[in-house]
Amino acid sequence: MKDYKNVIIFDHPLIRHKIAILRNERTSMKEFRELVEEITTLMTYESLKDGVPTTEIEVKTPLEVCTQRVVADNSIVIVPILRAGLGMVNGVHVLFPSAKVGHIGMYRNEETLTPETYYCKLPKGIEDKLVLLVDPMLATGGSACDAIRLLKDKGCKHIKFMAIIGAPEGISKVAETHPDVDIYVSTVDRCLNEHGYILPGLGDAGDRLFGTK
Ligand code: PRP
Ligand code: URA
Repeated sequence: MKDYKNVIIFDHPLIRHKIAILRNERTSMKEFRELVEEITTLMTYESLKDGVPTTEIEVKTPLEVCTQRVVADNSIVIVPILRAGLGMVNGVHVLFPSAKVGHIGMYRNEETLTPETYYCKLPKGIEDKLVLLVDPMLATGGSACDAIRLLKDKGCKHIKFMAIIGAPEGISKVAETHPDVDIYVSTVDRCLNEHGYILPGLGDAGDRLFGTK
């Protein structure tokens, strides 16, 4: 895979450790869900280190008044791509408890592998917010590309996309289609199989999160 200015790959031992457990086919649904949340919190912490809108407030300590920089209220909107992206929402909420949530429903057509959008509900005023689009799996890149297109068509100007596992072809597609969007991926896997599944991957993230298999 080429080096892209807008792609940030995390290479952190704690995240790698958790992903190893996620991949294991014997990991339970409960543990899988908890790990997705924990990894998302770690990713959010890192990916927003330079990008969180902040504001100054005055704080009175027991000794004096000082000016402090804090996270601006209502400045971030979390947008999961349904279904699997839902598993990442709590992981962001741990750090931004009052962030509003928009939902984009998409599923991949199993034959063509192209995404079909079946739902979209976004908070009012999202166009002025930092939008954190989340989906654990970035395979062909079709779902992420279309979700970003949809957000841009709604006026969103500042979008970051976070995926836990990415395939090289999907990462390249999103990076090239949307060079203005920062893409954060915890680990890059080898390739896709003939059914569009990531190898070695973790299987179907939605099924593993919600027990639908
Ligand atoms: C999965 C995953 C992504 C998409 C990635 O969703 O959660 O949204 O596939 O594949 P792509 O990069 O090739 O578009 P899926 O369509 O299986 O729906 P689900 O989350 O409801 O199971
Ligand atoms: N979606 C998944 O859930 N897993 C994959 O490997 C690819 C797409």
